[in-house]
Amino acid sequence: MGRALQNGRHTLGDRAAVVGASACPRRSYHSAPCRALELGCGSGASAVWLAQQGFDVTALDLSTLAIDRARERAKEVGVSVNFIVADVLKPPTDLAGPFDFFFDRGCYHVVRREDVTAYLETLHRLTRPGTVGLVLTGNAREPHDPGPPVVAEEQIRAELGRLFDIVHLREFRFDQVEADGTRFLGWSCLLRRSYNVLK
Ligand SMILES: C[S@@+](CC[C@H](N)C(=O)[O-])C[C@H]1O[C@@H](n2cnc3c(N)ncnc32)[C@H](O)[C@@H]1O
Repeated sequence: MGRALQNGRHTLGDRAAVVGASACPRRSYHSAPCRALELGCGSGASAVWLAQQGFDVTALDLSTLAIDRARERAKEVGVSVNFIVADVLKPPTDLAGPFDFFFDRGCYHVVRREDVTAYLETLHRLTRPGTVGLVLTGNAREPHDPGPPVVAEEQIRAELGRLFDIVHLREFRFDQVEADGTRFLGWSCLLRRSYNVLK
């Protein structure tokens, strides 16, 4: 375990990281739960959780199977989420922004390898200056194979910094425990859109 994790300042788990970010808009930027977008929502655990907190959530994923499961999950707990089967690199043209908050756990670190500019163009179209985002990615300081794709701090700053101020970039461990007891190291990246144009 790295020193940054031992000092107790960077021990957020996935859910705590979401709590931290979703509290941010309420405390610092917004007075109430807001319009939220999740990119690469998988089977919808975070999207449903945000909806339970009162957020008006739209969530995208490429996988029909994942979106079917996500819709079932929302139905089971009685919340409404606008789940859409879509490519975050080319979202439907009728999907309208701006969203006040966005969340990405494990999608940016995949799609950046294909076309990071398309990912940023999606966020440029669907957010506004002042939008807050939380991106959770794998961390290049501890690559694993198999394991999540990893990103270096300087890559995050160079890529996401084209549209956002980086409010914080903290290390954390993903909640999921692997068969050998490993919990993968990640980056929790809290963003605030500062620029009107994509640099
Ligand atoms: C590691 S999973 C994370 C799922 C979910 N966010 C979570 O925390 O459980 C990455 C997700 O991104 C989705 N994904 C990958 N590329 C995508 C793309 N271009 N557009 C939309 N979703 C994509 C995958 O289908 C998958 O569900």
